Amino acid sequence: MRHFLKFPMDLILSDIHANLHALRVVLRYAKRRAVSRFVFLGDLVGYGAQPNQVLDRIQELKPRSLVRGNHDRACARPQEDASFSFPARMAAAWTRERLTREHLRFLQEMPEGSQWVGDEYQIAHGSPLDEDAYLLHPREALQAFEGFSSQLCFYGHTHLPGGFEFDPGRGALTWVHLEAGQWFQLREGCRYLINPGSVGQPRDRDARLSFASYDPQRKRVRLHRMEYDQAGAARTIRAAGLHPNLAERLLHGI
Ligand SMILES: [Fe+2]
Repeated sequence: MRHFLKFPMDLILSDIHANLHALRVVLRYAKRRAVSRFVFLGDLVGYGAQPNQVLDRIQELKPRSLVRGNHDRACARPQEDASFSFPARMAAAWTRERLTREHLRFLQEMPEGSQWVGDEYQIAHGSPLDEDAYLLHPREALQAFEGFSSQLCFYGHTHLPGGFEFDPGRGALTWVHLEAGQWFQLREGCRYLINPGSVGQPRDRDARLSFASYDPQRKRVRLHRMEYDQAGAARTIRAAGLHPNLAERLLHGI
């Protein structure tokens, strides 16, 4: 195998949502680039139709670190889906009925965020303060910066790539736009909340899957957007009898 990378790289994957078609494409990329360190920001399952297959693949990867998402929690424990929409609740019940005993236990044992990855950075599902919170607005981001101590925390849950930069010296908060394929360099003295987007159910009107690479030595992040077989993933959702909206939205990235 050729080794392209001088330094070990982490692949940051969030919100896979039982989408095996999308995950396979990410794993092919990882193999090509000889990347073997995987970090998961939660919502491995829920919405999609291949939870056991996705959990098998993730367990084989022996993740460097992971945190649970609200869908992992709801699929592992009845009564945890009260706030879900009808299609999401239906998918959680569908998933719960089909999980193998081993996968159910794996989901039940997933740690709540935030967690450290080595001593390098932190990860959370929603916000470092609350796994169910959506980090969308500057006010929410400012509060979230008080909930972790590292320079960088990756988060998911919104399914929207991008994030926030906080400069404590100036008290300034700025939106971080990640350009697919470009490195984004963290600046000394600034702190970051970065979302790699969603592997299995993107919602930024771009149907391509989304994830990030992180280079801990050089402190830089790169967003990846890739095509995958959305139609195939949608077909498995329809064939499983899950809500048709869950299939349709994959085709439009919404
Ligand atoms: Fe999610």
